[in-house]
Amino acid sequence: MKTIKVNLKDRTYSIYIGNSILSDTNLFERYLTSKQILIVTNEKVAPLYLSIIEKHVGELDYETYILPDGESFKSLEYFNNVISKLIEKKFSRTCILIALGGGVVGDLTGFAAACYQRGVKFIQIPTTLLAQVDSSVGGKTAVNHTSGKNMIGAFYQPSAVFSDTSVLSTLPEREFSAGLAEVIKYGIIKDGKFFDWLEENLSSLVMRDEKSLSYVIERSCINKAEVVAEDEKEIGYRAILNLGHTFGHAIETALSYKKWLHGEAVGCGMLMAADLSRRLGIFEQSDLDRIKSLLIKANLPVKIHKDVQFEKIYENMKIDKKSKEGILHLVLLKNIGEAFLTSEYSDELLKETIESFL
Ligand code: NAD
Ligand code: GLY
Repeated sequence: MKTIKVNLKDRTYSIYIGNSILSDTNLFERYLTSKQILIVTNEKVAPLYLSIIEKHVGELDYETYILPDGESFKSLEYFNNVISKLIEKKFSRTCILIALGGGVVGDLTGFAAACYQRGVKFIQIPTTLLAQVDSSVGGKTAVNHTSGKNMIGAFYQPSAVFSDTSVLSTLPEREFSAGLAEVIKYGIIKDGKFFDWLEENLSSLVMRDEKSLSYVIERSCINKAEVVAEDEKEIGYRAILNLGHTFGHAIETALSYKKWLHGEAVGCGMLMAADLSRRLGIFEQSDLDRIKSLLIKANLPVKIHKDVQFEKIYENMKIDKKSKEGILHLVLLKNIGEAFLTSEYSDELLKETIESFL
């Protein structure tokens, strides 16, 4: 088992990564320090992995809350259902919540933990690649508002993250590729050597080779932990984690969040950010080509979905929440391994980039 620390003073915590660590009794005993435990999961993950967790909480006063499966349930309504369950079962401030699932379960459970009686402990047990390399780490918790994704939330760190690589064996292929987009992101934004490694090893990774998976999750978490330790609340530097997200959100919104997964949109968005950087003359064509071929190997789209028109993307980008005082800030690239946040780009070149991906 590997251990990575997220260094945040009194909120420092560990991420444990390994094959079948969900069977490790000692690990659970160390963290289940309350008699009152609520496991939050969803209807797809529960039949697969809930029983493994239940073995560790058998003696305790534990409850489960099973969400329906899907992004649309990351809502205030289901957040309220979790809170109601805690109140109904008379759970006190010392209770512990366990989030067992992908980013949807993790984000909602984390937000419930942040709010219940002004904050209770929670443990992230991420079961998608995206959640293991990204959403379970760094303390962004949220639910969606009917008019916008992640509009209601809090920065609230977990007590620990347990990432068991064996649970990824049941993940559908598209979901796995969506997670790879976030993995590739770390190579592009701050870890050029990791990008080189991915170019060499992507085929074994796509086959879900255990050693490669464990390495990739570890390296991704180290990168994310470094960024979060420097800028927990995204005052500045943390924004580099949003590479490709402004383009990606614009595409997802234009598709009403139906046809592409978030990671697929981020993958295409990262290539668009690289393309705009190249048009600005700060990024090499050869590096753009390297990113494109890695995305293709990871089975990610490198063109905008055919149902999306230019105007929709352009307008959606302008209303992106990262638009500060009317100025749209974008994460752009200088090299593979070096990203930065800027508002200095020409609108004409941005339009050219969008056009060239249609
Ligand atoms: P998800 O939680 O919807 O999971 C994807 C699908 O895989 C779902 O159908 C789920 O039930 C299923 N699933 C989960 N684990 C499985 C397993 N082991 N085997 C088989 N099926 C499994 O989606 P996601 O991609 O994990 O997360 C997306 C969410 O994460 C979005 O809401 C996004 O906003 C959020 N997010 C948050 C952060 C953050 O920093 N908090 C970062 C990135 C994304
Ligand atoms: N997923 C972006 C962040 O955690 O900041």
